[in-house]
Amino acid sequence: MRALVTGGSGFVGSHVVDALVDAGHGALVLDRAAPAHPNVGAEYRQADIRHRASWDGALDGIDAVCHQAARVGLGVDMGDVADYVADNDTGTAELLQALHRDGFRGRLVLASSMVVYGEGLSLCAAHGPVRAPPRTPADLDAGQFEPRCPTCAEPLGQGEVDEDAPSDPRNVYAATKLHQEHLCAAWGRETGAPVTALRYHNVYGPRMPAGTPYAGVASIFRSALVAGRAPQVFEDGGQRRDFVHVTDVARANLLALTSPEPTPGAFNVASGHVHTVGDLAAALAGAVADGHRLDPVITGRWRLGDVRHVVASARRAREVLGFEAAVPFATGVAALAAEPAVPG
Ligand code: UD1
Repeated sequence: MRALVTGGSGFVGSHVVDALVDAGHGALVLDRAAPAHPNVGAEYRQADIRHRASWDGALDGIDAVCHQAARVGLGVDMGDVADYVADNDTGTAELLQALHRDGFRGRLVLASSMVVYGEGLSLCAAHGPVRAPPRTPADLDAGQFEPRCPTCAEPLGQGEVDEDAPSDPRNVYAATKLHQEHLCAAWGRETGAPVTALRYHNVYGPRMPAGTPYAGVASIFRSALVAGRAPQVFEDGGQRRDFVHVTDVARANLLALTSPEPTPGAFNVASGHVHTVGDLAAALAGAVADGHRLDPVITGRWRLGDVRHVVASARRAREVLGFEAAVPFATGVAALAAEPAVPG
């Protein structure tokens, strides 16, 4: 099998390429950046996915497509909305148009995200499952971080979100990830080809971008610690996330690309274990500590686009895709602490 991996020079994409090559498959990388960690068993084509003419012929001899190329993270502010839409929406549209033109009918695996669910499944003690409204600046300023019930205004608890939960993107990045899913699904319906959307949780691990506004929190905390600064924890540190190791995410992609039967549909890609952002800061502080430990600072600061908790069910991925995360949080965090930083 020979796969096209868009974004294959990036953080998750480069691990997908390694997983493909290790399993004896071919990989052609399409990325506008040169690979920081090239795999000698892969081919590389440096081109911007938005400019189709510049990667003409890249689909020749391709059996499956793994679409990882995207602008990630929460972004800075509305000043980068056009960049998100260009990279994520237009980039995907250009890919799909090329697949259409070439009559491609193989598997398409898309890197999607848990952010498509927004606050996910919220539970009110009095009113049962409810859809949490976005948190207001006034609540956040007052340190009221938990979403509140729209009926009685009491803080809400959280349930595990499954793939059938309604989508509710809360920021530009989330909106583009959902749109990517919809565009790819439309192509799948038109062609009958199988489309798998992998909704990643918070991916961390080796090669994680650092030093950019688009870096994930594990990388931000790690960079601060190695520079001798305490990690700055937003809100009260109680935000719940599922930190999933990048090698596990790569394996989920490999399964979706190569399983004997295609696995169309959406899958949460998660470790199945929940940790708070405060837990992560403490674990990294402990792992980086070199004689003297830098305790995380709980700042109370907040970002309007952040969701409070993102916790989803890993059941469907386990049952249908046969995916189960293998890297425990403590092991992955300790290894990340020891990693050299990668400029993003
Ligand atoms: C992350 C990914 C996103 C992915 C999603 C899946 C990044 C940048 N974002 O979004 O691509 O689709 O997971 O769930 O990799 N925080 C701090 N201190 C900081 C920075 C952040 O406390 O210095 C907190 C934030 O308030 C938030 C949490 O850490 O509650 C996670 O933030 P972030 O790493 O940006 O990730 P997500 O928004 O969860």
